[in-house]
Amino acid sequence: MAGEQHKTTLRPETEVVHLGRDPKRFDGFVNTPVVRGSTVLYPSYDDLIHHRGRYSYGRHGTPTTDDLETAIQVLEGGDGVVLTPSGLSAVTVALLSALKAGDHLLMVDSVYMPTRTFCDTFLADMGVETTYYDPLIGEGIAGLIRENTRAIFLEAPGSQSFEMQDVPSITAIARARGITTLIDNTWATPLFFKPHAFGVDLSIQAATKYICGHSDALLGTVSAIGPALKKLKATYRALGFSVSPDDAALGSRGLRTLAVRLAHHQQAGLDMANWLLTRPEVSRVLHPALPSDPGHAIWKRDFTGASGLFSIILKPVPEKALATFFDSLTLFGMGYSWGGFESLAIPFDCSTYRTATQWAPEGPAVRLHIGMENLDDLKADLDNAFMRMHAQS
Ligand SMILES: Cc1ncc(COP(=O)(O)O)c(C=O)c1O
Repeated sequence: MAGEQHKTTLRPETEVVHLGRDPKRFDGFVNTPVVRGSTVLYPSYDDLIHHRGRYSYGRHGTPTTDDLETAIQVLEGGDGVVLTPSGLSAVTVALLSALKAGDHLLMVDSVYMPTRTFCDTFLADMGVETTYYDPLIGEGIAGLIRENTRAIFLEAPGSQSFEMQDVPSITAIARARGITTLIDNTWATPLFFKPHAFGVDLSIQAATKYICGHSDALLGTVSAIGPALKKLKATYRALGFSVSPDDAALGSRGLRTLAVRLAHHQQAGLDMANWLLTRPEVSRVLHPALPSDPGHAIWKRDFTGASGLFSIILKPVPEKALATFFDSLTLFGMGYSWGGFESLAIPFDCSTYRTATQWAPEGPAVRLHIGMENLDDLKADLDNAFMRMHAQS
């Protein structure tokens, strides 16, 4: 299928198994080989000077990277894809492709923190001004647009705090003014939300998370539609980005089980979220697939599923008791990069960096990733940690 067919009518579970591999091309081997290579030799002088042939230079693509790009392109429904060495580099190359000195950027206030750092440092030094906006702004975005606004960046749900954004309202306004829109769609993956179908020009994945899915590789993807693609490719080439064939192969391998893993993360995450709602230690659960969540209506309208990452707000406890909660966990690991097979828990505090909105929860905030472990074992782990926390309160 790789490289031959860029649109399918197959269902997502089938697509992730078959896209981006063609055993006929590789003597029947099921997976595309890990092709290592920098130098590509041309058969003749004439081929060389006319740049004839599918491959020209390792950095510009190999069968291993091409096949993953093709698979992502079909899943995203875009016109083209670039692979980057991490999720953050996918964000930065996409932003750089849409902006130049003197431009103005509208950035969602709930964005992944390192994206914010890039805007406040690198983009600011380059002469790009960033205005942060409330994730709930919807059509109100029109009021923030200036003559030099060239890009609007979205992330839904918000990193850590899980606000949903009205993507089609924002993209309709941006389109009418010729402004490029970008979204970090890592939480939903292209299986549960298709940004291009909602008018987004550049769709970004930290493939490190659910696509690779095993906490053993860093990878990013950017899918583009329309005129944004040419600029994306040119920026990518100018910056000299490329990804290792090993990491691309891990991305392709992760893709094969993405649908079944996400189905599990969704079910286990929702079951856990509902259980947490009943716990006396928990004040609120921030999960857009819960009917009680303020973002639920938008999630239901635009998304076809939910992954396994969400947050809880605890009732107030002293810092020492919170530390006991985390230190008592034996199955939930304390780590930042999510989307693997394992469950995770981290404390977070958005109040230190938000500028357009206030983050003032009633108690400590904890982000959870629900992995593949038995759910009763995970609940017992949390139950034990809550009990020990109580003893310190
Ligand atoms: C929403 C989101 N975007 C981007 C990234 C960056 O991904 P990477 O760690 O691959 O650079 C992360 C990482 O946690 C993330 O959560």
